[in-house]
Amino acid sequence: MPTAEQLNLLVSNVVEPFTEKPLGELRMIRDTFVNGNDARVRIELPTPAYPDSKRLEELIRQRIKFAAPELEPRIEIHSTVRGKDTGGRIGLNIHNIIAVGSGKGGVGKSTVAASLACGLHSFGCRVGLMDADVYGPSIPHMMNAEGKPAATELQDEQGNRVMRIDPIDAGGVKLMSMGFFIEQGQSVVWRGPMLHKALTQFLKDTAWGELDYLIIDLPPGTGDVSLTLAQQVGLAGAVVVCTPQQVALLDAIKAVDMYQKVNVPILGFVENMTGEIFGRGGVQKVAQELRIPFLGEIPLNAAIREFSDRGQVMKMLMEENSARESLRTVCQNVAMQVFREIVKSPTGPVLEIL
Ligand SMILES: Nc1ncnc2c1ncn2[C@@H]1O[C@H](COP(=O)(O)OP(=O)(O)O)[C@@H](O)[C@H]1O
Ligand SMILES: [Mg+2]
Repeated sequence: MPTAEQLNLLVSNVVEPFTEKPLGELRMIRDTFVNGNDARVRIELPTPAYPDSKRLEELIRQRIKFAAPELEPRIEIHSTVRGKDTGGRIGLNIHNIIAVGSGKGGVGKSTVAASLACGLHSFGCRVGLMDADVYGPSIPHMMNAEGKPAATELQDEQGNRVMRIDPIDAGGVKLMSMGFFIEQGQSVVWRGPMLHKALTQFLKDTAWGELDYLIIDLPPGTGDVSLTLAQQVGLAGAVVVCTPQQVALLDAIKAVDMYQKVNVPILGFVENMTGEIFGRGGVQKVAQELRIPFLGEIPLNAAIREFSDRGQVMKMLMEENSARESLRTVCQNVAMQVFREIVKSPTGPVLEIL
């Protein structure tokens, strides 16, 4: 019989299929245990949204069977969200901040942002959703949330006055929108610097608590806002939403260029509204050409519009329907791309929480 150390070594050489790196290097083995015939391997997935833990389990089993056929260990799978803990720069306890952007309005950016939040929540992650689209805040409606978040003025340890805004709970997702503070029918002209300051301040003052992921729905065509966020908050990366139409694609390419200029990792492209009207596959092709990950396609589907119009994005991700599978796949791909970015960065996987 191998010892626990030998078992550990064996498993640590198994290659994780999505990063193509060995489990040992990824620090995904929590522990190994051998006592006579009783043996156990505990694996720590980097996110509860890990796409195919059965396959990983099988790879581990095969490796053990090959080297130590007499051993039949139990394989326990846990998960802990890894993060860059970028929000720490402004005192937040958020492990991954993900911006959702596009070059153009109307491509389904808010739909994707809300679906990401609800989908990651449905996998068991702690999620916040920040609607930063001051020009057309649509997230509160999609999430069926209204009201004015409670704001309290407090004093910090240095005696400074600070604001504390409680996010609105939307089916388990912590939601904040600049729209909550704009009166109905009132139009607000946000000049650049004001918008930046307001956004960072909003993020800082909101009592998010500890989050695995914070999704930010950015206003369209906002290179400068992304720059501010990248500098002051730090981003795990950006998701670029695009439709298969040529014009939308050109705008998305511009958005990519902008993120690259401000050093925000591009998590990838999502093709939204795939189907007979707009076509299919164009976004994936461009992603390949630009060597940017492709995060999946979401079909043009009337059910999506109906769920979001009725304020039921959470329901769309929780219950069986024709849109759910494609949306969940995008969530999983985003979560895994965040992990790939963490593994890629020179410091390696940063922190393990829980
Ligand atoms: N895949 C889809 N199929 C059908 N309707 C969609 C899809 N994605 C988005 N929509 C609808 O298109 C409209 C615009 O989407 P929205 O997310 O508000 O775009 P943006 O935030 O980019 O302006 C909404 O009415 C939404 O419900
Ligand atoms: Mg929008």
